[in-house]
Order: sequence, then C-alpha cells, then structure tokens
Amino acid sequence: MANIDTKDLSFDEFDEVVNPRPEENDFDRIVESAISRRGFLGGVLAFGSFTALGTSLVPTGAKASDGRFAFTQIPTSTADAVVVPEGYKSEVLVQWGDPLWSGVPEFDDATRGTADSQARAFGDNTDGMDVFSHDGKTLLVVNNEYTNRDIIALSAEDKRIMAEDDIAKGMMAHGISVVEIANDGGAWKIVKDSPYNRRITPQSEMELTGPAAGHDLMKTEADPTGTKSLGTWNNCGNGVTPWGTYLTCEENFNGYFSAPENPDHEVTPELARYGVSATDWGYNWAVIEDRYDVSKHPNEPNRAGYVVEIDPTDPTSTPKKRTALGRFKHENAEAVVNNDGRIVVYMGDDERGEFVYRYVSNGVYAPGASTDELLNDGILYVAKFSDNGTGAWVALTPETTGMDQAEIHIHTRQAGSKVGATTMDRPEWISANPKAPEIYCCLTNNKNRGVKPNAGGDDTSVNGPNPREKNNYGQIVRWRPDGGDHTAPGFTWDLYVLAGNPSVHSDAYAGSANINEENMFNSPDGLAFDSNGLVWIQTDGNYKNEGDFAGQGNNQMLAGDPVTGEIRRFMVGPNECEITGLTWSPDRRTMFVGIQHPGERGNSHWPAGGTSVPRSAIIAVTREDGGLVG
Ligand code: FEO
Ligand code: CA
Ligand code: CA
Repeated sequence: MANIDTKDLSFDEFDEVVNPRPEENDFDRIVESAISRRGFLGGVLAFGSFTALGTSLVPTGAKASDGRFAFTQIPTSTADAVVVPEGYKSEVLVQWGDPLWSGVPEFDDATRGTADSQARAFGDNTDGMDVFSHDGKTLLVVNNEYTNRDIIALSAEDKRIMAEDDIAKGMMAHGISVVEIANDGGAWKIVKDSPYNRRITPQSEMELTGPAAGHDLMKTEADPTGTKSLGTWNNCGNGVTPWGTYLTCEENFNGYFSAPENPDHEVTPELARYGVSATDWGYNWAVIEDRYDVSKHPNEPNRAGYVVEIDPTDPTSTPKKRTALGRFKHENAEAVVNNDGRIVVYMGDDERGEFVYRYVSNGVYAPGASTDELLNDGILYVAKFSDNGTGAWVALTPETTGMDQAEIHIHTRQAGSKVGATTMDRPEWISANPKAPEIYCCLTNNKNRGVKPNAGGDDTSVNGPNPREKNNYGQIVRWRPDGGDHTAPGFTWDLYVLAGNPSVHSDAYAGSANINEENMFNSPDGLAFDSNGLVWIQTDGNYKNEGDFAGQGNNQMLAGDPVTGEIRRFMVGPNECEITGLTWSPDRRTMFVGIQHPGERGNSHWPAGGTSVPRSAIIAVTREDGGLVG
C-alpha cells in the first residue's frame, strides 16, 4: 500500500483503503428502508415534543423563549476569519508553537520550530479542553490531537519522506498542554513559567491500570510487566471527573504504527479491526522509534486507544490509562454522578459503523474519599438501539461475549460485535444535559451507511438512530435513562436534529424540521451543554460550500434549545478549520473555543493574516458588555 497517495485522505478513508471491506449487495433492502422526509419529520416532531415518550422533560410552567439565546443568529461565512454575533468579540488566547516557558524561542514562520522548541511549546491542533480552578489559579488543559504534514514539516516536497527532526517535531506537537491562564486587565493570557505548565507527549510515562493491565497482550520488549507505557497521542475529545481530574481520549491511535522495513507485513485480524497496518498515516514515527514498528512490536498498539486520567494540579503525577473504559477510537468521555453516587461514563467510538458505550463504576463517589478505583472497577456496556424509540445497555462480560475480562478491554470492538451492538454513524462527542437526565451524542456522518459493513463485518443497513443511507450530513441522537437512573438497563431515545440541506434536497437529506436555509450545517462533532442547558454544537464537516453543501460555508458553532429544538448559528471559523473544544472561564464571562487545522489544504493564513503560517489556536469569546456567555 506504500504507493497510495494518502495525503488528503481522512483517517477513516485511509483505514478503508488499507483494509478494504466488501460492498453490500442487498440494494433492494436499502431502497426499501429509505425514508421520506415527510414520514421522518413526523417522527422527529413527535419526539421533539416528547409525546411519543409519554412524558416531558420540561419542568411544569417552564417556557423556552427567545431569551434563552442571548445573541442574534449570524449568516454563514467563507471568510478567513472568526465571525461572531454583534455584541461579541473574539481574540486568540494561545496558538500552536507558543512557548510555555521563558527561554523557549517564539514560533518562527520560517522554520515552524524544532523538536526541542516544540517539546516546550503549546501543541498543535487543539481539541478537547477544560478549565480547572486550583489554589486560586486557573489551569487550562488542552488536547493537541495531531499535525498536518504540509503545515508542520518543511523538509521535503513529498511530505511522506520527512527529515528526522521534522518527524520528532511532529511527535512533540502531539499530546496535552497544561497551562495556567490569568485575566490580565480584561484579557485572558497564558502565564509563562507557571509551576503548573506541563507538556504531556508521546514520550511521557503512563501507568496502565484496570482489567487489561498486565495481560500478555499488553507486554512488550520495553515493558515485560504490561503496566507501563510510553506516551499518549491522537488525543481527541475529553472529559472531567467530579474529583477534578482531566480525561483525555485516544482516538486514531492506529495511524502512527507501520512497518517501514517490512511493507508486506500482515497484522492480526484483531489489529486490523482497529485499522492498524504496515502503512501509517504519514507520521513516520516508526522511522525514528522502533516501538511504532508493528512488525517488530505487535503488542504496542494494544497499549493505545484508551481514556487517560490526568491530575492537572500535580505536574509530577503519572497519567493513568483506564483500560476499564474499553479500547476503541475514543472521542470523548462524559462522566456523570448517578443518583446513587456511582460514576457513569458515556463514550463513543468514532468510526463508521462502530458503537456507543457506557461504563458504570461498582463503587460510589464520595467527596474526600479515595477515587482510585472508580475508573478501574466497574462494568462496560454497549448500546443497542431499537427502532421503536427504546434501547438497552448490554454488559460486556465473559458470559455475554465468550471473551476473558482483559480481552474485552483490549478487543472491545470485537466484544461489541459479539453481542450485536447497534452500528452507528461515527459517534463523536457525547454531552449530558445539566437540566435533565438526558444525554446527547453527535453522529457526524457515514457515507458507508447502507453501503458497506463495518470493519468487523457487522450489518450497517439503516436503523432507527441512523436512518439515512450514504449519510453525508449527520445527526444528533439523545437518550434518557429509564427512571432517570444512568445505571438502568434501558433507555428511550429520539433524534434531536438531522442535519441536511433544504436548499438542495426536499427528502430526508433536507434535514429535520428544525433545519432551515438560515441555520443549516453538516457533520456535527463537538458538543457541550452550558450551565443554562443550551447545547452547543461544533462542526467538522465539508466546507466546500457547493453541491450538497452549498450555502453551508466554513465550519461553525451553533447553539440549540433542547426543549423547543430551535438551533441558531453563533460562530463561523476561518477557512479549512474545524471547530472543536469548548469550555468556559470560572466566572462564565469567557467562552474558550478551539480552532483546529485552519488551512489544512493550504488556503488559510489565520490568525495572523498576510502570508503567515496558519496556526491552530484557542480563542476567547466575550460579550462586549462583559456579560455572561453561558
Ligand atoms: Fe477527533 Fe472524532 O474526532
Ligand atoms: Ca471530533
Ligand atoms: Ca470529526
């Protein structure tokens, strides 16, 4: 596969090129199951008013009104700029390559830094993040998901062949940045040299914990105990625990392994399910570090693909990979405290036709008591959605899967397939409504729905929460645990929105009733509730602004009212970016938003403009009157 030009392929597309899946032949069934816009919208409206579920989320007497949206919707934009509504402003807080300590050279457009400078500077491609208050300080913890070769590496015209320092620089731009921030005369700035500042990278020591730790599949030449791994990478979304730690989620970990000296090497079916192959996604890490050579170290990929817990208040702490939460392409980890004190974590596996999961701790959370085992000792479940608006959580145990406990937590996708989990349209962020026992999940898109099975061969014909074949627009599903109990075996679900384009389509691809030509978007990805119960939706979609996507402009952020279903566009990003990562200052007067990969195809100079190198950055959005923003 070494001769394929994979430069412009997405991770999913790359995995499919490397591991082709059979086309499904049963087109009659697909056509039969196609839905009309009219028929579908009837269902959405019924769900939206909750009449179909026989109960209401709206507190008695509560009315949603315009007042819930403290802004006027903005039109779409194709400008190389961040656009926010009148009365709001945005400025860059921190961007790729900004030094976190004195003595580190400032970012240089001509060189784009070195491995050494990058190791002590803010990482690339900002993603999930959160703010922590500690000891009078404000700490920002941010995932730096990946790098774009054309932007970070200068060493070769063919970026598949990079100089060693460029490879190492790319590696050090991955991981997590922890940085103290402070409000200096009304503007948030990073605090250089804070004792809390920290880079966690693919070179940082991790502890493997939970059911998979110590298993033979976790042992390597460098770690015969199977309990210590080196580094974390492709950190996508995040979560926070009630005890004040940060959860970072390892997503497309597979794209970093290869076999440069053995290009014909065939990986095991277990690794193939996760997209690991002899060809990487162009990072070339195996060229400089043997542990990324899967032909030499076949167990190394088993030590990635987890949720990692980090204590941002202790820069000397060792991050802990929590294998109890399963191994897959983790998007984010939404933790809630159930009524009985047990910790429940909702998680999606972002790949076409993969699954949604829930973890339930055996122990209960009590402030001040030990939390060490809450993310080690529990039960992992996978979701089965029924077309009638109900669903069930199926426990992944030796009894239900025929796999041993450790293997369930290493080959989690295979465990989900064994119990017949529902194949989904790429589960991205999951977020819990603070005003109701209700969970929202972005299903970003899936061009293979109804066309090809998933990597495990599971059926991907249309189903309840994934009702459109060749789904290029995406949707948001939401569910409510039975009895408001997040540990309950069952739930009811509906679709909050089907994204679409009503200016191009008049069938189901026009979207649900709450989509119109003014607020339309595609590929919902980031998702977060604010403290008022509005749900913020960030997109990572097609920004060509033509054909099926005409009129949708650059990637954007919208706010939705869970009760009325109304959605309004709040922000549009610069060219070729995605919007991902959202959190607030402790006083809720600043919203921090991530701008990832501006100019990924060479057509942006954001944020500095002119002929500058485009740089991923976090922006601070405030109201000009200093008011609350969520
Ligand atoms: Fe890193 Fe699924 O987004
Ligand atoms: Ca994402
Ligand atoms: Ca995405």
